[in-house]
Amino acid sequence: MSELKSYAVWDASTRWFHWINAICVIALASIGTVILNADALGIPSKPGMVTLKTVHVSFGYILVLNLLWRIVWAFIGNRYARWSAILPGGSGYFQALRSYIAAFIAGRPEHYLGHNPAARLAVTALFLVIITQAATGLVLAGTDLFFPPFGQWIAEWVAAPGVAPETLVPYAPEMYNTAAYEEMRTYRSTFLTIHLYNFYIVVAMVILHIVAVVITELREGGNIISAMFTGRKVISGRPVDEPGNDVN
Ligand code: HEM
Repeated sequence: MSELKSYAVWDASTRWFHWINAICVIALASIGTVILNADALGIPSKPGMVTLKTVHVSFGYILVLNLLWRIVWAFIGNRYARWSAILPGGSGYFQALRSYIAAFIAGRPEHYLGHNPAARLAVTALFLVIITQAATGLVLAGTDLFFPPFGQWIAEWVAAPGVAPETLVPYAPEMYNTAAYEEMRTYRSTFLTIHLYNFYIVVAMVILHIVAVVITELREGGNIISAMFTGRKVISGRPVDEPGNDVN
């Protein structure tokens, strides 16, 4: 049996991103579930719903800032944090994917330091659904609570004549121009529908992600879960994407 070797893989920014994102998604999905069931739970519009939505959006801003930093970091971080190690595609990708799946099924898994070819598909899909959730969430925050970045523009759209847009508060119909408000709510409903259905996709993908990570850890006998805390992976044999190994 070849000797075990320890490698520095996930840099500090990538690890912080991962855990801040995980906490935000769990908090957002939990508060979102309460918002969704507010009527059944007997939560009043004011102050109950406004408070719930304000807390939800506060976690949302943390998620968005964290995500923006990760997008920048994918250009400047270490080789395992970069787009080239995240996005599927590039030279030899499909062959590497086939080889990884065949070896995994045969019970002789290939070891990767960064994301394996199958994980690259999963991580890209996770990024896409979370970006969709964040983008629609920012529109909802503007159209419901008049919060940035779109809130000022929405307030100018719906304020009743003689009411200063910056003084608008949620759930105060007497401050709104009824026709403009109805028009805005129609426009917003598309974003709410996407935010709602994509929420189910986010939850399903998070569950799938956790199951896949646990199965991979058990099948490959590696330490991919603790590596997201320590940054280091301990691997026996030569990893496919080891620096100097030209496969990646
Ligand atoms: C993974 C992240 C997120 C999840 C899982 C999530 C989940 C949910 C769910 C389930 C709802 C209830 C939908 C409904 O009432 O039909 C909701 C509502 C809402 N979300 Fe999110 N959300 C996320 C991110 C965000 C972000 C980043 C923002 C904004 C910065 C945001 C802003 C809102 C707002 C304003 C509402 C209230 C919409 C309304 O009912 O009028 N969300 N979210």
